[in-house]
Amino acid sequence: MYSLTLVLLGGFSVCLALILICQPPSIYLLRGITNGPLVSHSFEKWESHLLPVNPLPRQHGYFLHITDMHVDENYVSGATVESACHKLAKESDVTSQVAGPLGAPGAKCDSPARLAQETLEWVARNWRDKLDFVVWTGDSARHDYDKSRMRKRKDIYTLNRQVTDMVKKAFWSPHHPVLPVVPCLGNNDVFPHNAIDEKDHDLLSFYEKLWRPWIPTGQRKSFRQGAYFATQVAPHLRVLSVNTLLFFNRNPLIEDCGSKNHPGDVQLAWMEDQLRLARREKAKVYIMGHVPPSARDFRPTCLDNYMATVSQYSDVIMGQFFGHLNMDHFMLYDASQPTNQTFRQTDEDKGGDLHATRDITEYVSWLRDMYSALDPVTSDPNKLPDYPASPLVVLQVAPSVLPIYWPAIRIYRYETNPSASNYGTLLGYAQYHANQASYDAVPGKPLEYQLEYTTDTLYGMPDLSPKSYHALAKRMVMGDAIGNATWTAYIRNMFVQARNNEFS
Ligand SMILES: *[C@@H]1O[C@H](CO)[C@@H](O)[C@H](O)[C@H]1NC(C)=O
Ligand SMILES: *[C@@H]1O[C@H](CO)[C@@H](O)[C@H](O)[C@H]1NC(C)=O
Repeated sequence: MYSLTLVLLGGFSVCLALILICQPPSIYLLRGITNGPLVSHSFEKWESHLLPVNPLPRQHGYFLHITDMHVDENYVSGATVESACHKLAKESDVTSQVAGPLGAPGAKCDSPARLAQETLEWVARNWRDKLDFVVWTGDSARHDYDKSRMRKRKDIYTLNRQVTDMVKKAFWSPHHPVLPVVPCLGNNDVFPHNAIDEKDHDLLSFYEKLWRPWIPTGQRKSFRQGAYFATQVAPHLRVLSVNTLLFFNRNPLIEDCGSKNHPGDVQLAWMEDQLRLARREKAKVYIMGHVPPSARDFRPTCLDNYMATVSQYSDVIMGQFFGHLNMDHFMLYDASQPTNQTFRQTDEDKGGDLHATRDITEYVSWLRDMYSALDPVTSDPNKLPDYPASPLVVLQVAPSVLPIYWPAIRIYRYETNPSASNYGTLLGYAQYHANQASYDAVPGKPLEYQLEYTTDTLYGMPDLSPKSYHALAKRMVMGDAIGNATWTAYIRNMFVQARNNEFS
């Protein structure tokens, strides 16, 4: 508890005083009033026993979701894709695809550090001063595509330290106000991949220290027990950073939920406490994590327990953000129905890691079945279906920076007026990608992302509420001409325009 004076410096100095429920005053100076050197950039003084309070009253109404950077320290520009972009091509291989300076789209390679760097720099140049916070859903470290260079624990730590430094640099410069960043663990950020439980003290304390600037002081201890935390990003808005690996069906250290002291259930109990607290304090909540909850990736009882928890707080939870699958899409669950636990794993899926060669048609038809199964379908074909009375749960899944397709990042827009009845509602998002044209334009110039689409202009969505998603899902599976055209546009977006020939 503290009082805080924040001095921001532009051409003229702007002084914002923000008085919070306070104990010894601490002054956080980004720069001295006289344009002097950086006085302090430590968050250590921001003491709070409850939730941290973000001292920056930024209310631009935008935030970034960035995910799956998958940086590879062994990436070599000009390498063959067969070597996972690790070994330089000989002259005799010039006919096959070689690794580009910013990655090898569609190949089984990870990202060069330069791609992550240029992506963050693009966001910093174009968006840093308009964002309120950053949702960063993990998988900063590479895969194990090259069996001759299997990852070691220290490689994962080094890569995460490197990417965290890039993120800090992008959003935390002496010339700009500090932007809150909310990180979480991906299944490739743990060692061995997918495997983590509450007993991995080395890893948990590594990330607790690495992300200390963003983890509220009062939650460091609990973070070290399960890698989850809650943080305040706006006066009445909190983000829960959830460790989805505690529910993940490929985590060999975790069983199905429902057993005594299961770390996933312990986390769910914590989530429920946070959600109850938020409801009592009339705050709204965003949930974020790496692996999106579904029968494909969650253990069955963990999925049921997760849905049972979140569906009781549809008045509080205004959005849920995930990565991991590299595909731009959404999942929609009707919480009054039992969760459909059928997901036919393909051989590619069974391997665990995702890459460009997986069976995407299978996934697309699974998703279409999910939308089709939602109740109710109106009998009048000229009318959009009515919104069901039961709680719907929407999960947003953002595409990756790793160019499985084209690299992508997403900017959300949300309602910031605390007296509006829809405070915290997601109003829409703009999906950006670096497609072939911006990718090829690289030599000597910084990478430029381009707007791919927005949810209001392309899908005609007034907002991203469950009701709007329900209408979109039902329209796409209705089978009429407009529905079919919307479905095609949606699937093309899902693969970031890289597979358009397959979905015409
Ligand atoms: C569950 O999902 C499977 C695979 O997508 C589908 O074939 C089946 O019809 C679904 N069952 C229900 C009850 O919706
Ligand atoms: C829409 O697509 C479905 C399935 O692909 C097809 O059966 C139907 O005829 C299409 N409708 C129109 C109006 O083209």
